[in-house]
Amino acid sequence: MKSLSVNLPGRSYKIDIGKNILNECLTKAIKNANTDHVVVVTNTTLQNLYPEHIVNIIKKSSVRVSTCVLPDGEKYKNLETLSKILDYLMNVKANRETLLLAFGGGVIGDMVGFASSIFLRGIRFIQVSTTLLSNVDSSVGGKTAVNHPLGKNSIGSFKQPDYVCIDLDFLKTLPLRELKSGYLELLKHGIIKDANFFKSSVNYSIDNLDFNFLENVIFHSCKIKCKVVELDETEQGLRANLNFGHTLGHLIETHSGYGKYLHGEAVGAGMCFATFVSWRWKHLSKKESELIIDGLRNFLIPIKIVKLDYNIFHDLILHDKKSKRETVNFIMLRKLGESFIKERISVENLWNEFQQFTKNFSEIVELE
Ligand code: NAD
Ligand code: GLY
Repeated sequence: MKSLSVNLPGRSYKIDIGKNILNECLTKAIKNANTDHVVVVTNTTLQNLYPEHIVNIIKKSSVRVSTCVLPDGEKYKNLETLSKILDYLMNVKANRETLLLAFGGGVIGDMVGFASSIFLRGIRFIQVSTTLLSNVDSSVGGKTAVNHPLGKNSIGSFKQPDYVCIDLDFLKTLPLRELKSGYLELLKHGIIKDANFFKSSVNYSIDNLDFNFLENVIFHSCKIKCKVVELDETEQGLRANLNFGHTLGHLIETHSGYGKYLHGEAVGAGMCFATFVSWRWKHLSKKESELIIDGLRNFLIPIKIVKLDYNIFHDLILHDKKSKRETVNFIMLRKLGESFIKERISVENLWNEFQQFTKNFSEIVELE
């Protein structure tokens, strides 16, 4: 097992990563929380796959447990579902000492984190992460949100968890497409911050779960993210680098209808686009841009975008939370392992680049 500590001004929390660690780690976390009521929030898929899994562990500590089961899917990551969590908390008479537990991937984690930041003006929450994507990215760092029809993750807050448990055993039931989607976010951390990490992890074949390898790379990926979050928790600047690939990624998710393409797939295509633009604008060498795009390709699926014209592109880009007025702050690469924030790029420039990108890389993103 490996552990990390996220150290923020005045508070810190621990992330445990390993195989078959849930029982021991969760028991300890419940004891440390010193609570008499845990509300587990999960979805129907996890409830079917792991019925009573979490509840049985918590019950051993003689703590009251309630379970709120939500519908599964990115399309339910919205205010309506958030409201269901809040209704549930009211109905079970949750109070300020209640501990929320997110049992799931990024969708559950983001919604539970958000609910914990607003219920009674803030209660504690912990994460038991069950997808590769949430292991390497969403369970760490305290961004919480739901989607709006006009903008991905556009309603949310910053709320750090009190503890994160990453038990690799859950990956055994995760579909291959989800594994690939998560791995793309892991590669993102190498591309923006650590060239050697990218080079040593990009050729891994995810169809074969090698738990020793995964423990190491998930640990390293979390370490990169934590370091950035510690320096800029609320994204005043530096943290925006973690949004590499997200400008196009969020557009794809919003425009295609939430859930058609997985988050990592959309961001993966967005990373190829941002790499392409970095090369076209002479910030990045051709050799490195090819190395990155070729590496990402193994984990991508072809994305088809219907009915996208300049006006729709413009509106979607400017609804994205990273935009400022008529221009966008776009994350680009200086070299493999070093990203930077290019400020105030006009949407028109980006649209021209996007059209060029879809001509050169129609097997990655095709405009129909
Ligand atoms: P997800 O939570 O929808 O999980 C993917 C699918 O796998 C779901 O159908 C889920 O039910 C299923 N699943 C979960 N664990 C499983 C398991 N162990 N076995 C079998 N099936 C399992 O998606 P995700 O990829 O984990 O997260 C994507 C979300 O994370 C997006 O909404 C994205 O915006 C968000 N995100 C947030 C941050 C952040 O910093 N907060 C960072 C990256 C992504
Ligand atoms: N996934 C981007 C961030 O956490 O800032």
